[in-house]
This record gives sequence, C-alpha cells and structure tokens, in this order.
Amino acid sequence: MSKVIVSPSILSADFANLEREIKKVEDACADWLHIDVMDGHFVPNITIGVPVVQSIKKVTQLPLDVHLMIENPEKYVKAFADAGADILTFHYEAVSDVEKVVTQIKSYGVKAGMSIKPKTSPKEVLQYLPLLDLILVMTVEPGFGGQKFMEDCAEKITEIKSVAAEDLIIQVDGGINAQTARICTQFGANSLVAGNYIYKSSDVTQAIYSLKS
Ligand code: DX5
Ligand code: ZN
Repeated sequence: MSKVIVSPSILSADFANLEREIKKVEDACADWLHIDVMDGHFVPNITIGVPVVQSIKKVTQLPLDVHLMIENPEKYVKAFADAGADILTFHYEAVSDVEKVVTQIKSYGVKAGMSIKPKTSPKEVLQYLPLLDLILVMTVEPGFGGQKFMEDCAEKITEIKSVAAEDLIIQVDGGINAQTARICTQFGANSLVAGNYIYKSSDVTQAIYSLKS
C-alpha cells in the first residue's frame, strides 16, 4: 500500500459538534484535517475564519491543512499561521506574486501549498513547483462540498507529476470517493481531500481506509 495522505474536509461535518466530528476522523486514522476558508469574493460561499482555526488547534493533534479560497491571501497568512495552520494553501488565481506569498508562508515555519482551479492550465504553474511543498489540483469548481468530480481536471496531475520533485505533495480536492481517488492516485496524486464521502459515510474508518488502499 503506497502512502497517501488523507485529509478529511470539515466542510461536510456537523458544525454544531465540531470537536466530536474532528475526533471521529482522528480516531479513524485521518492524516491531516482539511479546513476550507472562503470569503464570499474569491468564491461565492463564506465559511470558516481565523478564530475557528484557533479553537480547532486546541482539540486535535492532526496537522491543520488550511485551504484559503480568498482574495488577497497574503493579508491573512500571519493570522492563520498564528492560529495553528500547519499547511497553508492559497489559490494561484488570487495572487499577483506567487514567490512572495510562498516566502511569507514559509517564514512562519508553515508548509506552503498553491491550488489551481479547474480552468487553470498546469503549464501556468510548472515554474513555481520547486518553491512549493504542495500543489492542490481542484477537481471541482471551489466553493461548495458535494459536487461531482471532474476527471479532466485530475488529468492535469500527469503533467505536474512529470516535472515535480519526488517530495512535492500532489493533492486533489473535490468529489473524491473510493473510485475517483483511484483515478487520482493513478495519475500521481498522493494526498486526497474528501468531505462528503467521509462525513456522510456510516463507517468513517472504512471510508478513510478505502481512500488509502
Ligand atoms: C470545495 C472545497 C472542498 C470540499 C470538498 O471548494 O475546497 O474541500 O469540502 O468536498 P467534497 O469532498 O464533498 O467534494
Ligand atoms: Zn478544500
């Protein structure tokens, strides 16, 4: 079994019982915890902010994988780093100076990730891969959980994988389940975000296991 990092997205969790929902995936051998931050501008939805990340940090040992779907992410890097983010992923489409944001994130000892939306060509970001710890290939239009997986987005992994260093984490997010996870790992993904598939499952341990196998 190859090592795949599974990062359950709490966007599909019961927010009224967040601690319990986090413990549930922690006990089920999740590797990271995926936190979707949306600002109502970069994407049409509004979700979680800095204070919630701060509180989550107190109740889990899982590394916090924070996905910033916001405009001007550079304004919030320090706040999310201080709140306890272990990985901070911003969107390529939301910044004008990739190198500057990556340097800023790393200056706090946080892993730097960059994400691309479905319509962004991998060619645009290949030059930045050596700077990054993680590249996130969105397999749905960012904004909402529970959408249908877009296979043509997953195909972009092939081009990224062909030039990426061995230790670059290639993550996918959107519509991931046991079947679509297999497609992505065959293309070369080694980190899987899943919201609905994990949180709406009656057996969370089995759901996470099925993504790893
Ligand atoms: C979508 C978010 C995802 C979302 C995935 O914009 O970035 O992390 O929670 O949800 P599922 O796995 O249900 O597609
Ligand atoms: Zn996400």
